Amino acid sequence: MRILGIETSCDETGIAVYDDTAGLLSHELYSQVKLHADYGGVVPELASRDHVRKIIPLIEKALSDANTQPNELDGVAFTQGPGLVGALLVGSSVGRSLAYAWGVPAVGVHHMEGHLLAPMLEDNAPEFPFIALLVSGGHSMLVKVEGIGSYEVLGESIDDAAGEAFDKTAKLLGLDYPGGPLLAKLAEKGEPGHYKFPRPMTDRPGLDFSFSGLKTFAANTIRAADDNKQTKANIAYAFQEAVIDTLIIKCKRALKQTGMKRLVIAGGVSANTMLRAQMKTLMDDLRGEVFYPNLAYCTDNGAMIAYAGMQRLKAGEVLGLSSQAKPRWPLDTLAPV
Ligand code: KG4
Ligand code: ZN
Repeated sequence: MRILGIETSCDETGIAVYDDTAGLLSHELYSQVKLHADYGGVVPELASRDHVRKIIPLIEKALSDANTQPNELDGVAFTQGPGLVGALLVGSSVGRSLAYAWGVPAVGVHHMEGHLLAPMLEDNAPEFPFIALLVSGGHSMLVKVEGIGSYEVLGESIDDAAGEAFDKTAKLLGLDYPGGPLLAKLAEKGEPGHYKFPRPMTDRPGLDFSFSGLKTFAANTIRAADDNKQTKANIAYAFQEAVIDTLIIKCKRALKQTGMKRLVIAGGVSANTMLRAQMKTLMDDLRGEVFYPNLAYCTDNGAMIAYAGMQRLKAGEVLGLSSQAKPRWPLDTLAPV
């Protein structure tokens, strides 16, 4: 079976062709980062318009790179939600129309299920069950995963997502949008021990997160500090250390609570080098295993949507012609496959 995957939930147009025997045949990505940089964040209307401009040429390129004709496809998967409604509408309208024109089924994919299953594209894919830590720009959650579609959300952020906290703190440090990776780079030059940020919500039971206080703490710290480059690096280091420590404490708790030994970390923030190193140490200590997507599939992409769509298509899931984009769509309402 071969499928076209389309991702347009935010500021990346991602297209991929995935085959269940040959694997990933092509993968195209266009990032709108430059378009939104002047505004310091994603402007939804500009995002939608840019998806409209890029989506068809990228689909043509993905099909050509995969040496695939439309009549060789068995389905079209697209991100149906959650995300920016205008951006989602571009991918769903194009995906739904192509499926109709090509006479193949369409499948609507949950963006976070895409992130969660992205490590399955790797050679050493995790076996079920596992705990998933999903950390992106829009979501932070801990999920107990029994199988595809069997998701129990154990905890989530009550305010900012982890990636959002990275981006906002980066902005306060004068870094460009999206600041997460730039803050991580600056933190590499930072020295430990100069600043101590709080580890929010770790002093009470439960698996929810709260990251907005860290951004306020960062704002106050930056205001009181000098404008030196090393000082900024030290602040970036302390901020990143606090986010990672908090995530580690919560993962440890979730693993203990469920008795699980496998941890999957996905979403944009899972690209963070320090996070990866420290989670590896944690899982070595616990005699467990940690799994990540390939760096190319940590942030938004079409490959994860094609993969998740393939699983649902194989299970017989097909979207009707009147399907809608779902800007809000709780992960635990998905049907098990
Ligand atoms: O999953 P993603 O591409 O988009 C959403 O679904 O939201 O995640 C993007 C987020 C951004 O907030 C970005 O700053 C963050 O992931 N991010 C990072 C790193 N790379 C991307 N945060 C920390 N360290 C990184 N290396
Ligand atoms: Zn995402």
